[in-house]
Amino acid sequence: MSGVPQSNPQKPQKTFYLETFGCQMNVHDSEKVVGTLLQEGYRQVETVEQADLVLYNTCSIRDKAEQKVFNRLSDYKKYKKQGKTFGVLGCVAQQEGEKIFERAPYVSLVAGSASYRNLPSMLAQLESATLEAGKSESRKPEAESLVRITGLDDRETDACFETEFTARTNPHRGYITIIEGCDKFCAYCVVPYTRGKERSRTSESVLAEARQMADLGYTEIQLLGQNVNSYKDSEGNSSATKTFAELLAAVGEVPGIRRVRFTTSHPRDFGPDIVDAIDAVPTLCDHVHLPVQSGSTRVLDAMQRLYTRDQYLERISWMKTAKREISITTDVIVGFPGETESDFAETLDLLDEVGYDAVFAFKYSPRPNTPSLKLEDAIPEEEKSRRLEVLMAKQREIQTIRYKKYIGTTCEVMVEGRNEPRAQWIGRTTHNKTLNFSAPPSANLKAGTYAPVRVTGSFPNSLLGELVI
Ligand code: 5AD
Ligand code: SF4
Repeated sequence: MSGVPQSNPQKPQKTFYLETFGCQMNVHDSEKVVGTLLQEGYRQVETVEQADLVLYNTCSIRDKAEQKVFNRLSDYKKYKKQGKTFGVLGCVAQQEGEKIFERAPYVSLVAGSASYRNLPSMLAQLESATLEAGKSESRKPEAESLVRITGLDDRETDACFETEFTARTNPHRGYITIIEGCDKFCAYCVVPYTRGKERSRTSESVLAEARQMADLGYTEIQLLGQNVNSYKDSEGNSSATKTFAELLAAVGEVPGIRRVRFTTSHPRDFGPDIVDAIDAVPTLCDHVHLPVQSGSTRVLDAMQRLYTRDQYLERISWMKTAKREISITTDVIVGFPGETESDFAETLDLLDEVGYDAVFAFKYSPRPNTPSLKLEDAIPEEEKSRRLEVLMAKQREIQTIRYKKYIGTTCEVMVEGRNEPRAQWIGRTTHNKTLNFSAPPSANLKAGTYAPVRVTGSFPNSLLGELVI
């Protein structure tokens, strides 16, 4: 399940290039796609120029993300002449389906995430069809592909994309998917349409993967899902069936694992048992990402978020009474249709009330198929930009104050790497903050090790410190 598999020597060596857009789910899907391709005898290369097969694993959460892939594909003419094959994977593939062939006729493969289990057979079809097409290449206009393979029809599958061939890019911390898809249907969101209904893996299989990762030397695990809190341990021995909080605790207790994170949580399903688990199991990180989207109950209702401002704040109060200080981060959408100045003011006020350590803020972007497309009272683009700026400026002030409080404390970091020009090490705290620090060469630090660091300075997005010797 883990580690980088070697290319299979039995199969002819073709090369592929893969670029990933979007969320951590996509990043982890790409690790599985890479593992599968290596197993199928492909070799990964660093540039489009070097590749026979060019893949884009795409995101459609906002229009901007979707445009990126079509910008990449606009270079096709040059590359198509060189005989390269193009594939579009991920959420744009699932959302646009065969329409991609109309917009980009040189694309040969369109596959959504729910059909990646069939990648080996899709690749085999692609190879043999490309071979056939090569023989009759002169009969088609140069820019149009003769080969069209789709993997789109599996969205309603019950199966997750579990593969023993995951090529994880970082040898110390890695992702484990526990649940795929989403059943929430927030009014603005494409995810239920691109990733299908919720399917949970069994806790047995998640724990087996965690143990295997620990055996390979991983010390940090991040549990992934569009909505990890609605995890349901469907199968297996009923006495061993686990809730999300129990699974979280069990992963935290795997010998060798020092840090466990999880993302993303939905406030509706976020229970006090998760905070209890963080209290009980020291390896569970002191950080929760709990997207609020808006501080106005009226807007939350229009967004179909299934909770009120007060219910959200109740969850925050559970975290604030935890034994350790839990760092809280969130996502916010500004300019949702009908959002008034006073709704927006409620969001600003919520930032103060919660005291977030990071806010990922986005301008509302209307997406295909979503219920909010039909809502009236669209907010003009300039007004969305203004609100975004106001919100980010406010959050910057909040973070400036919050980060300063760490000065003088000692935090354990996982060493992530070195910034040579600045002669600094880059570390990450349990609160998920970047802590850049100095250390003498004799400290013999390496990426993946843990070290105590005294915080000596702060910025709105990072901390500065020195190794405690
Ligand atoms: N427009 C803007 N932001 C969006 N997000 C999801 N859908 C949209 C959209 N249509 C944001 C939400 C979500 C994050 C991953 O992206 O804040 O939590
Ligand atoms: Fe983008 Fe959402 Fe798909 Fe992730 S699940 S890649 S954020 S559209």
